[in-house]
Amino acid sequence: MRRKLAAGNWKMNGARADLTQLQALCAAHDGATVDLLICPPFTLIAAAVDICASHALRIGGQDCHAAAAGAHTGDISAAMLKDAGADAVILGHSERRADHAEISDDVRNKARAAHEAGLLAIICVGESLAEREAQNTLDIIGGQLSSSIPDTATGENTVIAYEPCWAIGTGLTATPDQIGEVHDFIRARLEKRFGAGVGRSVRLLYGGSVKTGNAAEIFAVSNVDGALVGGASLKCDDFSPIISALEAAAKAS
Ligand code: 13P
Repeated sequence: MRRKLAAGNWKMNGARADLTQLQALCAAHDGATVDLLICPPFTLIAAAVDICASHALRIGGQDCHAAAAGAHTGDISAAMLKDAGADAVILGHSERRADHAEISDDVRNKARAAHEAGLLAIICVGESLAEREAQNTLDIIGGQLSSSIPDTATGENTVIAYEPCWAIGTGLTATPDQIGEVHDFIRARLEKRFGAGVGRSVRLLYGGSVKTGNAAEIFAVSNVDGALVGGASLKCDDFSPIISALEAAAKAS
């Protein structure tokens, strides 16, 4: 059985004052029955790790460089994240692909570096609205999967997040049918490439305007093992009911 994962991506949001949200999350979800992860901006990682030290809530980064160290001004390596106490890193988010012209080859190299550093790599894939409207969704996702996932991937060190670009921060959510189609496709691709053992053990998250009102419906979809949540992960009061919905889905499955 794959353990469910509720992950929050704070993106470029959050100051030290917002760490109280993590304290509240830890207090509200002591003894959580699903894995919990928050990826704050780099500046808050070390403080967040300290706050969550005696709790199951894990902390991650939102990007890393493919190299272990060197002359890369402004970048952060996977080993540095690990050293700061992070356990995971989000890679290939569509905002990084768009803002920083990251391509899947970059994402694969970063994911390999994350694996070497002992981090869980959360590799993001997703189609644009134009690609969906042109009925190219599965081709796009298939291509991103082939090029973004390194051969070092296992069920323990890799999670795939399906985030349709048009559903991110827009309030639009993919329908359960759309999510199910893509998640089943991703599962089949993983099994084909890595074999049934690894292919069935990699967790698949959905991301894109997940909130309290739609979480239960999304978590009931086949091959959805949790969510990667943006805006609704910033406040404990918004994220907490999503975690509870995932726990309920885990219990029901
Ligand atoms: P929203 O939940 O704000 O739509 O963001 C989703 C996302 O991009 C998570 O990585």
